[in-house]
Amino acid sequence: MTAATDAGRLRRGRARHGADAGDADGDADDGGDGVTLWAAWQRGAAMLREAGVDNADGETFWLMEAALGCSRAAVFAHPDRRVTAAEWARAASAFRRRAAREPLQYIVGTQPFLGREFLVRRGVFIPRPDTETLVEAVLAATTAAADERGPMVDVGTGSGCVAVSLALARPSARVVATDCSLPALHLAEENARRHGVGDRVRLVNGDGPAALSGCVGAGTVSVMVSNPPYIPSADVDELPPDVRLFEPRDALDGGPDGLAWYDRLLAEGRTWVRPGGLLVMEVGAGQAGAVCRRARACGGAWAVREVRRDAAGVERVVCLERTRA
Ligand SMILES: C[S@@+](CC[C@H](N)C(=O)[O-])C[C@H]1O[C@@H](n2cnc3c(N)ncnc32)[C@H](O)[C@@H]1O
Repeated sequence: MTAATDAGRLRRGRARHGADAGDADGDADDGGDGVTLWAAWQRGAAMLREAGVDNADGETFWLMEAALGCSRAAVFAHPDRRVTAAEWARAASAFRRRAAREPLQYIVGTQPFLGREFLVRRGVFIPRPDTETLVEAVLAATTAAADERGPMVDVGTGSGCVAVSLALARPSARVVATDCSLPALHLAEENARRHGVGDRVRLVNGDGPAALSGCVGAGTVSVMVSNPPYIPSADVDELPPDVRLFEPRDALDGGPDGLAWYDRLLAEGRTWVRPGGLLVMEVGAGQAGAVCRRARACGGAWAVREVRRDAAGVERVVCLERTRA
């Protein structure tokens, strides 16, 4: 896998709005006196276009909605409405942040995942649409009855989008979510509470699967799921600025070949996953074959059950079953 291969994935985010044409007519630093909604949109779009932001016109509507509470429809319905100085200051700040390539999601504060809004903030990895395939793979490979036979574990939970989605889909499951990052765990806790599963998602701080010690029994886990860091170290610096400058490197860097985390999950997962249980992992573009080969080289501990493609047709998820070996 190269950085270029997964750069598109890492860049993709919120559903896109169609682009609308608009002429630039000023910058964001003039105090905004007398600025209309339409002029505010034009200024924002011009700043974002100049900064090289994809879909600058559409993103400007999102930023105006977050900063002014004013929908895209309202901009078209009331283009001549004047914004107050305070509103303009908020909008201009949002435009400047995005022009500096801060991800849109950190500025608006949320990202949709499987149809639900998740809180996001700087310091924590932003959920990607492709990771929805990881949750879908778990749900397709398990039954509610199987989930009750042992906890589901999300290793490297970030915002908690996977753990919370699994808890919502399987109301009788116990879910344990781990991360080495305290900011991530705090955010995951907020998201779990926001979606009403705060009492069923247990958050654990620690290094990889080892964090489970003292929290779940060895050989009891029904499903271990993970979207681990998988970008080769040398490629991280080639990622788009939105990703490389703002998202935590710990969430991206998968070691020299991008596969270091899979070796850990395969080796340590043997201890935790019960016979017949699953290890379900998101992989980078082009990594599925190598991950399956590594799984088959684990002394028969894992059987490959499925390699699932994402919406773009990329092999995105490897689903393994723990054998009795
Ligand atoms: C690619 S992100 C995935 C986050 C989330 N599961 C998702 O899919 O959006 C990887 C996560 O692994 C966490 N992580 C990195 N190294 C770790 C370690 N040694 N132990 C536990 N978690 C780790 C990062 O903090 C980050 O939240």
